[in-house]
Amino acid sequence: MGLAEVLPTQERLVPIRELEEMRERSLRDPEGFWSEVAGQLHWFKSWERVLEWKPPFARWFVGGLINASFNALDRHIKTWRRNKVALIWEGEPGDSRTLTYYQLYREVNRFASALKKLGIEKGDVVAIYMPMIPEAVVAMLAAARIGAVHTVIFSGFGPGGLAERINDSEARVLITADGFYRRGREICLKAIADEALAKCPSVEYVIVVGRIGKRDTPMQAGRDFWWHEVVEGAENYVEPTPVESTHPLFILYTSGTTGKPKGVVHSTGGYLVGVYATMKWVFDIRDEDVYWCTADIGWITGHSYIVYGPLLHGAAVVMYEGAPDYPKPDRWWSIVEKYGVTIFYTAPTAIRMLMKYGDGWVARHDLCTLRILGTVGEPLNPEAWMWYYRAVGRERCPIVDTWWQTETGAHMISPAPGISLVPLKPGSVTLPLPGVDAEVVLEDGKPAPPKQRGYLVIRRPWPSMLMTLHRDPERYKQTYWSRFVGWYFTGDYALKDEDGYFWILGRADEVLKISGHRIGTMELESALVKHSAVAEAAVIGRPHPVKGEEAVAFIVLRDGFTPSEKLRKDIEDYIRKTIGSIAVPGLILFVSKLPKTRSGKIMRRVIKAIVTESEIGDLSTLEDEASVDEVKKAVEEFKRIAEEAMEK
Ligand code: PRX
Repeated sequence: MGLAEVLPTQERLVPIRELEEMRERSLRDPEGFWSEVAGQLHWFKSWERVLEWKPPFARWFVGGLINASFNALDRHIKTWRRNKVALIWEGEPGDSRTLTYYQLYREVNRFASALKKLGIEKGDVVAIYMPMIPEAVVAMLAAARIGAVHTVIFSGFGPGGLAERINDSEARVLITADGFYRRGREICLKAIADEALAKCPSVEYVIVVGRIGKRDTPMQAGRDFWWHEVVEGAENYVEPTPVESTHPLFILYTSGTTGKPKGVVHSTGGYLVGVYATMKWVFDIRDEDVYWCTADIGWITGHSYIVYGPLLHGAAVVMYEGAPDYPKPDRWWSIVEKYGVTIFYTAPTAIRMLMKYGDGWVARHDLCTLRILGTVGEPLNPEAWMWYYRAVGRERCPIVDTWWQTETGAHMISPAPGISLVPLKPGSVTLPLPGVDAEVVLEDGKPAPPKQRGYLVIRRPWPSMLMTLHRDPERYKQTYWSRFVGWYFTGDYALKDEDGYFWILGRADEVLKISGHRIGTMELESALVKHSAVAEAAVIGRPHPVKGEEAVAFIVLRDGFTPSEKLRKDIEDYIRKTIGSIAVPGLILFVSKLPKTRSGKIMRRVIKAIVTESEIGDLSTLEDEASVDEVKKAVEEFKRIAEEAMEK
């Protein structure tokens, strides 16, 4: 589909020459280009070298000293932005709070002082397991202020997922809350944290925000402190610690192709430069904007585009605690209307879900303030694109479909209305941003011809790229830099069309994208086999109309266990507790054996073909043909039951 159909107001487009020139210059003289961008931030000491590239390890702005919290706060409070709103927060029950830049600055300083009083120092890891409340942002910036490294763990993770991440990062302190509201219910976060903490010897202190006023929250003397109490005795000002540009700002765990999550380590200087630049290029952020990214701070999108990107620009940021459709399906639209949101950034799953409720819920709200709509995390199908464009954007707002990853730190391929808007094509992420040398290549590394599927690679380092994987540089090399030596392997399939536009076609590895969340099939399998009834498990993904993809788990039970609805529920609960609800399979099917190769490897490819009714392909390495029939039988049985249920 061409632009004429999509953006009828052609006069809104400025010539794309500007973008081409910028891209060309950024690739011809990357060091000069990135120096200019970096110069827009505050450095306590300037860098000596822009890039030190010892493949596959990149160090950006070497020798420079910087502080993330200084750039996000101190810089603004010296200007008129001192009294500008930084955070507009709304709780699910409808309560709200706003913090000006000065107020946020003061809260961050006081909490940084509290952390210091507990003995937290530069380089210590601070784990943050919090709901979407302003204190989550305060905690991140306070850690950064004293040079501590934060690791935010999504509040939807269960005790198992939380403990694994705390232990891998060796966090000294955990910041959490008594609970939060979700769909009208109170979720007691501290109780989950306590379960995890029993297995986390590195944690010396726990700081608890009283969000839901749960006075009977168990507090362990000497270890647990209420947030409001620790900040009471704190100082109003803490000198920001100038850290080396390559000092880690945070570790963020994400799923990979093995059972163990990867601790993605981001730098301070390079990361900030990347998010600062893309915030301007992609969102065209301006002082008068009211910017809302609906992600959770537990994911990279929350780090880069709720906290660091917008605050570096002194933007007004909306933050919302609860579910998108609670109490009614127009909750989000009412927030857009109430605060006059101008830039709105969300995930395709959410768009598909809200689309299903029908146009009426959107139409009843005045959304005329919106000027840019964005998406991230999974492919945005053209149907959802058109609905978002028409029903939400009222055919006035460009859609920035942004491709990037936890590892890339910042947007990589996306329309850039802040530079100049290219014609949009629903379903395409358009063109790489300046400084990003992206290509689609075939198995042999040659560029794929137009419209042919290949692997998406990045052929040179960029400032916001991950530095390494925490305590596992070998895995970093292996995962990202060994498939095509010298190039970053994204793990995604993509194609380029005749105009050079990129289309992301999904993961090329054993990673699922469920509602935009990244779940490794092996990670889920290894959690499943820890259940006392499970002998073997194979997990595959199948397309889902709203979630994009859902996990289907095939399970072989141990002797003495028989399939039952109760057991299925029990396994689901077990996953909810160990990893978290985002990993609960959409479907669990019991079989007596799994298709395996003669060397004993589970043939997920075969299982996937059966589930998705596609070509099974070569079966010459299969050990036991009956196993294929077993899977087929289970799938057919499930379909029969589902159809019967539909008829009823
Ligand atoms: O498969 C791509 C998909 O999300 C993956 C990265 O996931 P994660 O690290 O959790 O980060 C999500 C938020 C940045 C990618 O490898 N993905 C991300 N953005 C898009 C996308 N797929 C299609 N279109 C996108 N815009």
